Amino acid sequence: MNNIKNYLAQNKARFLDELIELLKIPSVSADSAYSQDVINMSTAIKTALKEAGCDHVEICETEGYPIVYGEKIIDPNLPTVLVYGHYDVQPPDPLDLWHSPPFEPVIKENGLHPEGAIFARGSSDDKGQMYMHVKALEFMVRTDQLPCNVKFMIEGEEEVGSNSLTTFVTENREKLSNDIILISDTGMIAPDVPSVTTGLRGLSYVEVEVTGPNRDLHSGLYGGAVANPINILTQMIASLHDEDNRITIPGFYDKVAELSPTERTEIGKAPFDLEAYKDALDIEAVHGEEGFTTNERNSIRPSLDVNGIWGGYIGEGAKTVIASKAYAKISMRLVPHQDWKEITDLFSRHFERIAPKGVKLKVTPHHGGQAYVMPIDHMGYRAAAKAYETTFGKPPVPQRGGGSIPIVALFEKELKSKTVLMGFGLDSDAIHSPNEHFGVWNYLKGIETIPYFYQYFRELNTVT
Ligand code: BES
Ligand code: MN
Ligand code: MN
Repeated sequence: MNNIKNYLAQNKARFLDELIELLKIPSVSADSAYSQDVINMSTAIKTALKEAGCDHVEICETEGYPIVYGEKIIDPNLPTVLVYGHYDVQPPDPLDLWHSPPFEPVIKENGLHPEGAIFARGSSDDKGQMYMHVKALEFMVRTDQLPCNVKFMIEGEEEVGSNSLTTFVTENREKLSNDIILISDTGMIAPDVPSVTTGLRGLSYVEVEVTGPNRDLHSGLYGGAVANPINILTQMIASLHDEDNRITIPGFYDKVAELSPTERTEIGKAPFDLEAYKDALDIEAVHGEEGFTTNERNSIRPSLDVNGIWGGYIGEGAKTVIASKAYAKISMRLVPHQDWKEITDLFSRHFERIAPKGVKLKVTPHHGGQAYVMPIDHMGYRAAAKAYETTFGKPPVPQRGGGSIPIVALFEKELKSKTVLMGFGLDSDAIHSPNEHFGVWNYLKGIETIPYFYQYFRELNTVT
């Protein structure tokens, strides 16, 4: 890729400015108060794709938020890369913990980012990472070096379960046909330890509602004599893990793919500093399933977490009350071979079984998806590995990720193609958290590395 370094140096300021403009749009998909902003964001992406050199760009309306599609087909005989990303972001709350407003991006330095990092909701997840691909395309088109056909598909509902995209993919298999899918929506180990994500966990997300008495009660008049939904719910939740921190839902582990000792040894080779990990989180000890390391617990093993729990009186002072209802939102991260619908079912049946007679229980499934793995002998992985070797001077470490991008398993099923996950974020980017940020260096390194992926993917395809 001739001149990528020069191109970056000459355009760095503009690349940052353009991203900053996109980050100002509060495209929060979860909250309907922002719906016009989400729609405005889709238009901004359309314009950006057009300016970067797509020949054909369209906004595809759905029942939810639009999907932005763009393509540049240079030769039908050449391989086609489909880039996926999302333009929606997580809600920014709690707002008071942000050091600068979430939709007023600022570049600030910190220890990990001597070149500065852009602080804004969506900077790393996923506007910044998605936009690296737009700018990489711009570079390849303007310098006349685009090696492959390219299709872009950028959605606005990833953070709320990709419902519309599921239908869109199923109905547009021909339009979306490709040889490889490329996504930057994950992380890497460290700036000097490039890595490629070779797996994503699946997900089952449910909400539970426990109802006790038909109204709130005086906790003195009734306390001790009726089931308190909050007491009950917390007991039920506590019983979901045993003393070894294994999940107690019957059948939960039945289909879990167990890794061979060799595969586990490979995972153990990824650089990891437990002390630094604990320090970064201000915790004295890690916690998780007996018999597995931290890196295994958060990638190749399933997990169950309460994401929110509420009920009763939480205002100022004290109110003596037994609330009529208690609620929790619970997520289960799944691994290959676990089926998310089956797990949702197992959870619901188990939770109903353990609920005492004194309460009524309602379980509402939200969304979910299957886990995904990418074998490292796949041509897509090999092309990525060569790209990292070129720009980082060393091959990437393959790393199974703990997060979920449920649509990736669906791509495999419907489009029959594998996905390469070239993430440039860091775990410390605080995605979904206050003060989310994305390193300026990471952003530029991504734009530098992506064009090589195209080059090597074409070369590998031509050789065989
Ligand atoms: N980009 C993340 C997923 C991710 C981040 C995977 C870092 C691996 C490393 C994505 O936007 C996300 O947040 N996914 C959700 C699931 C979705 C269905 C809401 C998640 O993992 O919680
Ligand atoms: Mn994301
Ligand atoms: Mn996310």
